[in-house]
Amino acid sequence: MKAVVFHGIGNISVDDVPAPTIQDPKDAIIRVTASAICGTDLRMVRGTEAQMVPGTILGHEAVGVVEQIGADVKNIKVGDRVVVTSSITCGYCENCKAERYDLCLNANPNGPRGVSAFFGGPKPSGAFNGLQAEKARIPFADNVLVKLFDNITDDQAIMLSDIFPTAYYGADLAQIKSGNTVAVFGCGPVGLFAILSAQLMGAGRIFAVDAIPSRLELATKLGAEAINYDKDDPVSTIKNLTGKIGVDRVIDAVGVDANRPHGGIIQQAKSLLQAKTFNQEKQQVEKETNSQGDNWHPGDAPSQALQWEAEVVAKGGTIAIIGVYPETVQVFPLGIAMNKNLTLTMGHCPHRKYIPTLMNLISTGMVNPTQILTQQASLTSALDAYKAFDEREDGWVKVELTPATMA
Ligand SMILES: NC(=O)c1ccc[n+]([C@@H]2O[C@H](COP(=O)([O-])OP(=O)(O)OC[C@H]3O[C@@H](n4cnc5c(N)ncnc54)[C@H](O)[C@@H]3O)[C@@H](O)[C@H]2O)c1
Ligand SMILES: [Zn+2]
Ligand SMILES: [Zn+2]
Repeated sequence: MKAVVFHGIGNISVDDVPAPTIQDPKDAIIRVTASAICGTDLRMVRGTEAQMVPGTILGHEAVGVVEQIGADVKNIKVGDRVVVTSSITCGYCENCKAERYDLCLNANPNGPRGVSAFFGGPKPSGAFNGLQAEKARIPFADNVLVKLFDNITDDQAIMLSDIFPTAYYGADLAQIKSGNTVAVFGCGPVGLFAILSAQLMGAGRIFAVDAIPSRLELATKLGAEAINYDKDDPVSTIKNLTGKIGVDRVIDAVGVDANRPHGGIIQQAKSLLQAKTFNQEKQQVEKETNSQGDNWHPGDAPSQALQWEAEVVAKGGTIAIIGVYPETVQVFPLGIAMNKNLTLTMGHCPHRKYIPTLMNLISTGMVNPTQILTQQASLTSALDAYKAFDEREDGWVKVELTPATMA
C-alpha cells in the first residue's frame, strides 16, 4: 500500500509499504478514506520534534472504514465508518475513566510515565505508524475509533480527528466565560478552530494574531479581529484596544516553530534586540535541521509567542497553551506570570473526551468545520502538499489527503 514515510529530517516520501496486520486482540485495521496534514507533522520534518524513528509512517488524523477487528474488539464492527482519535488511549485505566485520556497509563509502550501516545509520532510518544496511508492498524480500537453519524461527511469528520477537539480543549483549558475577551495566537487550523470554540463558549471580543494574510482573512471571516504582527505590534495593539487592561484569556496555537516579526520597523528592532536569546533557544531545541530552499525551516523565535501572550493577558487572566513545545524548551516569562497572578494551563489533547460532543455540534449544523478545509490532494501527491503547507503558500490552511485508490 502507499503511505507517507519519514526517512529523516527534511526527508519524507510516498512509498510502497506492507499493509498493516492485527498484532493484538484489541487492534482493528481500517481502510483510510481521508487523512490530513497537521502543523505537528511539520515539526517532525523540520526537526523541532526530535527522536523520530526512520521508517515511521506519518500522520495522526484519519477517517475510514473498519476492515478487520481483533478478538477483543466489541464496540466497533467491520464496515463501520469511523473517525480516529489522534491520541492513542486505552479507555480503561483510571485516568481514561476520568476522561484524562491525555494521561493514559497503558497506551504508550514506554510505560505509564510516557507522554501522550499518538499516531505517526517520535519514540517518546510510542513511535506508532501513522495514518497518512491507505490502511492503518488502530490499537485499543474500542476507544480510539469513534463511530460516525451517517450525516457527517469525511470532509467534516477529518476535522474531528485532531484539530477541532484540540482547539476546543484549548478554549476549555482557558476557562472562557460569557463575555470574556480572548486573544488567539496562531491562525493555522488549530488557531482558527480555537476562534470557533471560543465563540461556542460565549467569548465577547476575539483577537487573532498571525502574519499570514490569507489565514488572518479566514480569522476575520470567522468573526475575529485580525492583527498582523509583521505590520502592528500585537502587544501595544491589544492593550490599546482594551483600554490598557489586556485580554481575559489567551490561547497559544503556535508552538515551538514561532517566528519573530519580519516587518514593521519597531517590532523588528525589538526582536533584533532579542536575537541572541532566540538563537540560544533554537540551539536548545534543534539538535538537527535540514532546511532546503523554502522548505523545512524551523521557527526563528521559539519563545516569541509566549512572551507576547504573557504581556497581553490582563492581570488574573488565563493562558492556555496547546501549541506544542518539546521537552527541550525551557523558556517562559515566569516573572510576568507570577506578578500578574496568571493561571497557566497546557497540554496534549484528550481527544476522546470531546469528539462525541463536537460531532453533535456538526451534525446539528451548529458548526461548519469545512470552512477551514482549504485543500484536497491525493495521497500520492502528498509530498507537494506537505511542501505547500510548510511554505504557507497563499491560501493553504488545512490539507486533506485522499487515498491513492480514490484519486
Ligand atoms: N496540544 C495538542 O494536543 C495539539 C494537537 C494538534 C496540534 N497541536 C499543535 O498546535 C500548533 C498549531 O497547529 P496548526 O496545525 O494550526 O499549525 P500551523 O503551523 O499551521 O499554525 C501555526 C501558526 O502560527 C503562526 N505563527 C508563527 N509565529 C507566530 C507568532 N509569533 N505569533 C502568532 N502566530 C505565529 C504561523 O504563521 C502559523 O499560521 C502546533 O504546534 C501543533 O503541533 C497541538
Ligand atoms: Zn494534527
Ligand atoms: Zn488509559
